[in-house]
Amino acid sequence: MAGRLEGKVAIITGAGTGIGESHARRFAQEGAAVVLADINLPAVQSIAGDIEKEGGKALAVKLDVSQKAEVEDAVKTTLDAFGKIDILVNNAGVFERIPSVELSEAEWDRDLNINLKGTFLCCQAVGRHMVERRQGKIVNTASVSASRGGPLGAAAYCAAKAGVLGLTRELAMEWARYGINVNAVSPGATITNMMKSHFEESGLDEQEHARKWIPLRRSNRPEDMTNAVLFLASSEAETITGHDIPVDGGISAVFVGRR
Ligand SMILES: NC(=O)c1ccc[n+]([C@@H]2O[C@H](COP(=O)([O-])OP(=O)(O)OC[C@H]3O[C@@H](n4cnc5c(N)ncnc54)[C@H](O)[C@@H]3O)[C@@H](O)[C@H]2O)c1
Repeated sequence: MAGRLEGKVAIITGAGTGIGESHARRFAQEGAAVVLADINLPAVQSIAGDIEKEGGKALAVKLDVSQKAEVEDAVKTTLDAFGKIDILVNNAGVFERIPSVELSEAEWDRDLNINLKGTFLCCQAVGRHMVERRQGKIVNTASVSASRGGPLGAAAYCAAKAGVLGLTRELAMEWARYGINVNAVSPGATITNMMKSHFEESGLDEQEHARKWIPLRRSNRPEDMTNAVLFLASSEAETITGHDIPVDGGISAVFVGRR
């Protein structure tokens, strides 16, 4: 049976571990040629090697999404290798917990540069190609933190992720006339290195947190995120644009506290 992304070419940023790694492996299984773009080149080389051993098509690219020249190089490398780009998944991100009274300007800039500007730079560079082809699917990664606050000191992250949602809606409208779908996903707690270090620093226990705060009483596995992203990246989502799918066990539907 043909995969859901047979013949497609997909760039996935932050594919070196966690949610992005899960996207890359699954997209390849679904028939896409996958470009794994990450600041950590050895990590993506190793995953690309696995994908190729399993008969898939993969290319590892070193990319810091906050650097415009690197983003443009990654797009060129992809076009040289595969001739087109059908799908962009902006997944690369960083999360730092710093109380707002202590947050330095450099720390604010770093967060916004990677989480928000990086998403824009990738959309822009790939979008130029998609506008020319008059087709394409872009899936951005926001967070439950885009629409809710918390007590743990993540002002820059929350602001950046809220920006990702605004950017998603705006690009969706700007590029709808070219047949380009731009959507977002908002992960809730998802078991990856990012979440583990956040929980360690905050002294939270993952299972206790899930029982107490998540209506479905469980965190996501990276694969839960991939199921939503795969849908938005596939032809099944042809008439969906400008939206965000929260994948969060119900957290964003709660009125007050957990139900
Ligand atoms: N894990 C969660 O609970 C959670 C919750 C909400 C949102 N998210 C979002 O989901 C996405 C993936 O998160 P994750 O948990 O897999 O994170 P992770 O830290 O486990 O992995 C992030 C990946 O991004 C790469 N990366 C970091 N900075 C980069 C840069 N400047 N350029 C290119 N690559 C870079 C890292 O090398 C790593 O491979 C992020 O955007 C994150 O904000 C995660």
